[in-house]
Amino acid sequence: MNGIEINGTTGLLGLLGNPVEHSVSPVLHASLVKKHNDNYAYLAFRVEQEQLKAAVEGAYALGAKGLNVTVPYKKEVMQYLCEIDEKAELLGAVNTLVRTEHGYKGYNTDMPGLYRAMRYDGVSLEGQNVVVIGAGGVANAVLGMLFEAKVKKILILNRTKEKAVQLAERFQRVYADREIVVKTASYEEDYPAVMDEMSQDAAGTGHIAQAGYFGGEKKKDWLAIQATSVGMSTKTDEAAIGESAFYDRIACGYDLIFNPYETKFMKLVKEHGGKSYNGLRMLLFQGIYAYELWNDISIPDEWAADVLQQMKEAMGITKA
Ligand code: ATR
Repeated sequence: MNGIEINGTTGLLGLLGNPVEHSVSPVLHASLVKKHNDNYAYLAFRVEQEQLKAAVEGAYALGAKGLNVTVPYKKEVMQYLCEIDEKAELLGAVNTLVRTEHGYKGYNTDMPGLYRAMRYDGVSLEGQNVVVIGAGGVANAVLGMLFEAKVKKILILNRTKEKAVQLAERFQRVYADREIVVKTASYEEDYPAVMDEMSQDAAGTGHIAQAGYFGGEKKKDWLAIQATSVGMSTKTDEAAIGESAFYDRIACGYDLIFNPYETKFMKLVKEHGGKSYNGLRMLLFQGIYAYELWNDISIPDEWAADVLQQMKEAMGITKA
């Protein structure tokens, strides 16, 4: 336990969601509190849906400085806030509430959290070709990040094509000024051919592009971001996509799942010669961003490794 000593001036931070019992956020934030020598207690609150409004108002009345919001309330909580940050509004989801004079202001730190996690892992996005698997809430945050990061080309691959098309159209409308090529495909289509066609002209300029050719024919120059729930909990031996034709083209695969620590998707990426990462550092950096917002500070990346270690210990992860 890296507990703090609670006294009469201990401030309150917390997490609203349902369920929250397995959340690692309390460990993450307790670690930041300790490192920054602050005096806060961060607690996880399991909130029933009909109590969400009362929970937000109650936390405000009790003086809570900041809150995180997790599944299933990232959208629903927005109606109870006094203000919403522009980027969070665009994504239609809020995961961080910051206390203001009139109520809480909502932010989304998932999106910049993923960007910072990738930078931390040495994965560059600028000028890159990126394939996103999935078109749900998580993919929505990924798309926002990719448009902000000025990637070159995006392919959204989803079981249901219609959802991928809707997602693509929404972001292309909002970011009409960006020269980013966006295509969509379902798993049934010949998406490897689409990938080849997209990477043929002017390959990305990111470090992945320099990885060169694979097997002398297919270009292994794609970054893949796995944003579906397939591979989690009871389905740990499954991946949304199993085809070698897909993984042959992937130089780097980022799964946003972190439990299990190594997913089937990550294993497939590795087996086909690519590098793979899980979503634990996205979780870490969304938390670091939230903590920075609550306290108006900057947390050095050097702290990240220690905080990550605490999170891993709490989750019983022994791997590097
Ligand atoms: P989240 O907020 O976690 O993204 P979501 O909005 O329900 O959750 O989206 C889940 C994503 O996982 C979707 O892209 C979904 O595909 P569909 O749009 O076709 O539903 C994808 N997904 C879920 N189960 C899947 C499965 N068994 N195989 C492939 N994709 C799956």
